[in-house]
Amino acid sequence: MFVDDLPADSSAIIPLFSRLEPGADQRWTTWPVVVPTSRGPKPHPSWVVTSAGAFDTELGIVKTGKEADLFLIERAVPDDPTQSSILAAKRYRGAETSDFHRSSRYSEGRGMRNTRDSRAVSRGSSYGRAVAAGHWAYAEFEALCTLYTLGLPVPYPVQVNNTEILMEFIGDGRQAAPRLAQVRATKQELQGYLDQTVEILRGIADAGYAHGDLSPYNLLVHEGRVVVIDLPQLVEVVSNPTGMDFLHRDCVNVCTWFARQGVEADPEPIFADLIARMF
Ligand SMILES: Nc1ncnc2c1ncn2[C@@H]1O[C@H](COP(=O)(O)OP(=O)(O)OP(=O)(O)O)[C@@H](O)[C@H]1O
Ligand SMILES: [Mg+2]
Repeated sequence: MFVDDLPADSSAIIPLFSRLEPGADQRWTTWPVVVPTSRGPKPHPSWVVTSAGAFDTELGIVKTGKEADLFLIERAVPDDPTQSSILAAKRYRGAETSDFHRSSRYSEGRGMRNTRDSRAVSRGSSYGRAVAAGHWAYAEFEALCTLYTLGLPVPYPVQVNNTEILMEFIGDGRQAAPRLAQVRATKQELQGYLDQTVEILRGIADAGYAHGDLSPYNLLVHEGRVVVIDLPQLVEVVSNPTGMDFLHRDCVNVCTWFARQGVEADPEPIFADLIARMF
């Protein structure tokens, strides 16, 4: 556009230019700055916004967790309603605000990126804790990619960038889906949720893993479907000395909850079946 082409009344062009910079609660989309391996499995679902012209808008916090906080963001191209998506942003906290209590128990036997990192993590130095912060985001992102590729019901992992994972938001509009622990359901519905949970346990075990922190707080229920979340500690059952214990505890945690709701659930045969399938 040439200056001569500008309208005589320059106020008419201000809205056009003001749209080119993100506002106070916005940033440029971080999609173009992450390397392809930090993006979710291909093909990317059609709702994933890949345009470099998109903005990420903060919509607020969903939940504060022990090691990470969950925020809601919208990634959208201004004035293009076809390119807009609501995402969950899970942001791991830095060294000062998190105790990383999961580090030593879970990273035994799992490959850290290098030995300097693993030594730093085991010493609990601030570098180690910082590494751990990045490590958990990347570990959880990799776990989501692995399970998504296996066809298991997890939020689609969009990307990971430092301590932030962007993933599919499970919910309606801006309302997050309830956790299984909060769902009001008939006994028949609960039976269905138990069956789906056992399928999830099987799918994860068949790939050689245990969730490591499975509970009715890390299972969401959306449109009758159980979705599993919170996977930074996915445990390799065989290579981790306490892998079996994690797998057993996952079975006990979910079965205890279902049994308390009046749905018959015995963890031992489920655990035995998972082990039998694994070896
Ligand atoms: N993809 C998602 N879509 C909708 N809600 C989500 C999603 N991921 C997480 N949540 C919500 O945010 C909460 C915290 O997420 P998550 O369990 O992954 O983090 P956490 O730090 O381990 O939290 P906690 O310490 O409570 O276990 C979940 O219990 C769930 O209510
Ligand atoms: Mg959780």
